[in-house]
Amino acid sequence: MREITKWVVEDTGQKEVFWPSEEMKRLAWVNDASLYRQADEDPVAFWAERAREGLDWFRTWDETYRRDPPYFKWFVGGKLNACYNCVDRHAKSWRRNKAAIIGVREPTGEPAKTLTYHDLYREVNRFANVLKDLGVGRGDRVSIYLPMIPEAQIAMLACARIGAPHSVVFSAFSADSLKDRIEDAGSKALVTCDGYYRRGRAVNLKDNADRAVEGTTVAHVVVFRRTGQEVDWVEGRDHWWHELMEGAEPYCEPEVMDSEDTLYILYTSGTTGRPKGVIHTTGGYLTQAYWTTKWDFDLHDEDVFWCTSDIGWVTGHTYNVYGPLSVGATQIFYEGAPDFPDRGRVWEIIERHGVTVFYTAPTLIRMFMGWGDEWLEGHDLTGLRLLATVGEPISRDAWMWYFEQVGGCRCPVIDTWWQTETGSTLINALPGIGPFIPTVAGRSFPGTRHEILDDRGEALGLGDDPGYLVQRGPFGPGMLRGIFGNPAMYEENYWTRFGHDAYFSSDGARYFSEGNFRLTGRLDDVMKVAGHRLSAAEVENAIATHPDVAECAVVPAPHEIKGETPWAFVRLKDREPSDELAKELTDQVVKVLGPTCRPERIVFTAAVPRTRSGKIMRRILKSLVRNEPVGDTTTIENPESVEDLKTLVGYKE
Ligand code: WTA
Repeated sequence: MREITKWVVEDTGQKEVFWPSEEMKRLAWVNDASLYRQADEDPVAFWAERAREGLDWFRTWDETYRRDPPYFKWFVGGKLNACYNCVDRHAKSWRRNKAAIIGVREPTGEPAKTLTYHDLYREVNRFANVLKDLGVGRGDRVSIYLPMIPEAQIAMLACARIGAPHSVVFSAFSADSLKDRIEDAGSKALVTCDGYYRRGRAVNLKDNADRAVEGTTVAHVVVFRRTGQEVDWVEGRDHWWHELMEGAEPYCEPEVMDSEDTLYILYTSGTTGRPKGVIHTTGGYLTQAYWTTKWDFDLHDEDVFWCTSDIGWVTGHTYNVYGPLSVGATQIFYEGAPDFPDRGRVWEIIERHGVTVFYTAPTLIRMFMGWGDEWLEGHDLTGLRLLATVGEPISRDAWMWYFEQVGGCRCPVIDTWWQTETGSTLINALPGIGPFIPTVAGRSFPGTRHEILDDRGEALGLGDDPGYLVQRGPFGPGMLRGIFGNPAMYEENYWTRFGHDAYFSSDGARYFSEGNFRLTGRLDDVMKVAGHRLSAAEVENAIATHPDVAECAVVPAPHEIKGETPWAFVRLKDREPSDELAKELTDQVVKVLGPTCRPERIVFTAAVPRTRSGKIMRRILKSLVRNEPVGDTTTIENPESVEDLKTLVGYKE
């Protein structure tokens, strides 16, 4: 039975506050709210206990937490291997024959490819030797450009095994985007495939990989054969995965890594035109990945976990690889699209494979809602016991639909707030403790502390306006340890706004109730398009290289399904605006960045609002596309531009 308490909160009209059922409390790993207080009394001791209990270490650490602002370290002197923790220790236990990954494939009808922990052990060991045989060693970077097939996890774990940091690049990113990331990381090898299936069609991936590696440090390209389609081949550089695997030794000793050795680099969008390589290290990251997976999703050995994120995002790293595998869970890994062969696909997979815990993004929930409840009908979803979301704020409607239609009012909805930089979830309710409140993420994960600050850095409280969300020390063990090759950017992005005692998240937040956070969205020029993180500046750069473009400004506009989409305001040199030109510019963005970055609208304008010093006033453009009051316009040098733009975007006063 669920317990529901109705609260009425004046300013929001918020009525629903849900508490865990007695059954959930009984089942849950944690169900006692005093945990928060205990962890808060000594977060360092709390995390030390977690690291000891959750992971296998080759050597324990000498010092749990060391600060050297803006840097900090966890488990200093501790030695471990992430792959050993995700694979070996389970393959040596009763979990040997337990399904680790159920790879659900396209085209529909192809049987799922299931890897037990022992299968994973065998594959990962051999692939680790493949990489070593190609000359990849400890500290060398390996780029991975693979779709949603279990070889992605195998390749990542093999890298972790030999101590070579991986840099996974989203398979829908363009050749140019891949090239940028390969160059920045200085990768020695690339792991990719011939192609993959999307909505029944074979998509060629190797072409992009070929264009990307040209002229870079990549000496070897390992190609997994997925579709069997024709691909170009460079002798000596390109190797078939299956051929190398045949000749590889079956066992590869895991490298003894330092807790603070880099596990991976993951590129993400910031406010500049170039993506930044977020660095995650081994011991702290894995500790937080393990415990957030176990406690947030309340994963038990009987569960079947499905996180729908692409492997190219941090959610794919932490909740399709390091989290579920370190806890020894069974997970679904789905290659295809949610609407192929029809819009019931996701529900069919949940029913067919007995998914018990489902983790997805609000964008998908809005899409499912839009498709209509009839797609759920006829599917038995009663096996589900927990639902979760990530990536963007979720509206009350979407939350309630998810809770009622998908969860049948039985399953808590865990709304997890976190970032590529934070490595794991940080703010959310815990299933056995609650409460679960639509539009409210919840509390700081035990052992972490967040605050909301005003402009001057003063702490805000309940009832105050939204402010800046920050994290206080001791900083979570899973936090980033730097930006690859760019320490200045690390300092500037996270530690300058409020100094070295507050990690600056760039998100806005306010309190819903004591300690419970409601996130209000990004405060910088980073947008979340269908849950994908994208920088306005990257899209601007992609458009500005067109010879007819004089100037361009990109801002996020609200979108019913995707949450936000980029709108580009473009001033041309001396060409007349036309639909063809708009299409050319759109195509250029897709070519340079990839289809997920496609601008929703190109607005040709004679002028963009700017300050007297010549800076584009994005604030004004944002208000216009959101149909919000434009506010103070006295600092605009060309106020007439605002009036023109109002007409162009259909602004209603
Ligand atoms: C946003 C994704 C509201 C936020 C794990 C953050 C959210 C950015 C939530 C990071 C949530 C993530 N509620 N907003 N539950 N989760 N965000 O790096 O703006 O792709 O800064 O990491 O997503 O996006 P990233």
